[in-house]
Amino acid sequence: RTGLITLDPGYANTGSCTSSITFMDGERGILRYRGIPIQELAQQASFKETAFLLIHGSLPTRDELTQFSEQLTDYSPVHENMRLFFQNFPPNAHPMGILSSMVNSLRSFYPEIANEDEEIKVTVTRLISKIRTLAAMSYKISMGYQVIYPRPDLSYCANFLHMMFDSTVRPYELKEEVVHALRVIWILHADHEQNCSTSAVRLVGSARVNLYAAISSGITALWGPLHGGANQAVIEMLEAIRKGGGDCRSFVERAKNPNDSFRLMGFGHRVYKTYDPRAVIMKEVCHKLLGALGRSDALLDIARELEATALEDEYFISRNLYPNIDFYTGIAFRAMGIPTNMFPVMFAIGRLPGWIAQWLESIRDPHWKLSRPRQIYTGPKETAYTPIDQRV
Ligand code: SDX
Repeated sequence: RTGLITLDPGYANTGSCTSSITFMDGERGILRYRGIPIQELAQQASFKETAFLLIHGSLPTRDELTQFSEQLTDYSPVHENMRLFFQNFPPNAHPMGILSSMVNSLRSFYPEIANEDEEIKVTVTRLISKIRTLAAMSYKISMGYQVIYPRPDLSYCANFLHMMFDSTVRPYELKEEVVHALRVIWILHADHEQNCSTSAVRLVGSARVNLYAAISSGITALWGPLHGGANQAVIEMLEAIRKGGGDCRSFVERAKNPNDSFRLMGFGHRVYKTYDPRAVIMKEVCHKLLGALGRSDALLDIARELEATALEDEYFISRNLYPNIDFYTGIAFRAMGIPTNMFPVMFAIGRLPGWIAQWLESIRDPHWKLSRPRQIYTGPKETAYTPIDQRV
């Protein structure tokens, strides 16, 4: 017993688990990856280092980081035939549906390697590298733009921005402030214990499917507006407030109405009952990024006013409802030029190392079993079959 939950020997059946990857304290707003506070990683680490830390359990040595970087560069292109997939999605296909399909199809293009350790090592690195290329390709092809290939000389985050926005007609200027902001944002998203999409990866992974299929299920779960889709929903909410004349109070009142399904997007959290420590950093990232770009965004002003209005309201105070990571990330993505429907994809790219780390931890656990949650049955007692001519 952990004092909170009973871990049966197979524990996979309860949907709960033990894990040594990420520590969260929802009351005190603490988040650590392998014991390192998120604030220190956001200030000092690269996203590659953070991915390595989550997956391998410690920060890489210089040689390990060099080797990991070289492997990510080698794996960054995708099979040319994958382009045919993209071209056949309808123009209004959501990028998360495309990403989930494309990640799942990677197994077809990259068959299993007989040696299990090699299979895991190659598949993990290949996926971390290629998810950027797939995401950028889905955007370029959906816009009818020329696909831009990864460059071996760019960092992980810079290469993604290059593939997203560069073009032979109008070269994209990689600004250090934008690369820095993306690095911090992806570090903040990299893992978060047993959230909905990570639980999906563990549950699907427990059936011994390949990593691509397990991650594809995580992308699908993250798509939901109550989960990773919230960053897109926040911007749509802020836009609606702006169109409505900036009346934050009416949206706060709507969110309090038990008869209205509307929720304040980007607010509340199942675990954090204080300010999400990631949102604290995100608010600062937005302010610095817009300042460095010499831009302002009316939606940031509205977000700040909405936050202040809600945090003065008894309904939110009494329920410990604070901004979560999604409340400010959309504003930073807008400043980078990321299209709104790509915001959940940005979350998925950041969360991938955490999903992989959690999947590895589950498949390497000696107690690992097929997840098989049970239920409390509330249906009818035993009843006889009624022939159709006797049914009314
Ligand atoms: C993510 O799990 C993770 O770690 C997820 C995540 C990660 O990194 O993986 O952090 C990412 O998904 C962040 C959450 C993004 N989603 C949103 O911002 C959508 C808006 N938020 C809400 O839908 C809600 O807060 C949830 C879904 C996030 C949590 O829902 P819960 O667990 O039901 O919230 P709760 O039990 O704490 O709610 C307590 C009360 C309830 O009202 P009462 O029944 O007491 O009257 O607070 C209310 C809720 O209805 N409430 C809200 C609210 N969130 C909760 N009321 C208005 N607006 C909100 N946003």
